[in-house]
Amino acid sequence: MSKITVVGAGNVGATCANVLAHADVVNEVVLIDIQGNMAKGKALDMWQQAPVDSYSTRVSGGDDYALTANSDIVVITAGIPRKPGMSRDDLISTNAKIVVSVTQNILKHSKNPIIIVVSNPLDVMTYACWKASGLSDKRVIGMAGVLDTARYRAFLAEELDVSPKDIQAMLMGGHGDTMVPLPRYTTVSGIPVTELIKKEKLEAIIERTKFGGGELVNLMGTSAWYAPGAAAAQMAISIIRDEKRIYPCCVRLNGQYKLKNIFVGAPVKLGRKGVAEIIKLRLKKDEAELLHKSAAAVQEVADALDAMNLI
Ligand code: LAC
Repeated sequence: MSKITVVGAGNVGATCANVLAHADVVNEVVLIDIQGNMAKGKALDMWQQAPVDSYSTRVSGGDDYALTANSDIVVITAGIPRKPGMSRDDLISTNAKIVVSVTQNILKHSKNPIIIVVSNPLDVMTYACWKASGLSDKRVIGMAGVLDTARYRAFLAEELDVSPKDIQAMLMGGHGDTMVPLPRYTTVSGIPVTELIKKEKLEAIIERTKFGGGELVNLMGTSAWYAPGAAAAQMAISIIRDEKRIYPCCVRLNGQYKLKNIFVGAPVKLGRKGVAEIIKLRLKKDEAELLHKSAAAVQEVADALDAMNLI
């Protein structure tokens, strides 16, 4: 028996559950939300999609955390999304309370799950979840880099007129405007991207990527869900299948990259025990400086969380 719970039946959570159901990698997907009937209804709808799309994943939902018992993985998407003009950090007080209470409820019913956090401000909500959970730091991981590199890869694919499948990329730092895309580690079917694109074009794409979430908030009046939901599902799939895929993930650095006790994006190998390895890149001086600047921005918000004395 394998089971994944998704907390939050809003757009991101429902998309994530739907991608997981289609992947057919676990016996059961449970969708939880304080709006119990919404979670129950969306789960029932997904279960009724199973015969059409031919998957066996049993999908159920509601507001009762007893449904989540013995989950292998829990994806937390609960929280309010951004509105135009808001930064991710503006969500901290509301979402921190939600993430802490969700984490406590989850742990009442699952002893040692792996938790993937998607709520914003991402890096600090991952830290809040880890602190509230008492779990090993190998088992609490934030989803940001898979989404941010997906945006970067999509923009590059469009510019180069190639398939997004062939674009590989790595990125570090926080899930915010200070994120650190790494062009040196971007390839198109093994070809360094710098051989295929003009410097100015690449820089423009990097800038667009940094504000990629905000671009969508401005278009829709709320934040994105298809790519974020699918990105979280992809991380869960690598974990449940012990695939050891290497993704940019938000993890607790404890000395790596000269950063200590901070959750921030880095290249991570994901397997059945969660973080199998944090890959250490040999960053150049300017890259390391950008990473440290990004970590400082995350630390400021983490300090604000600590000052709230929630945990
Ligand atoms: C985004 C939100 C989900 O980047 O953080 O779209």
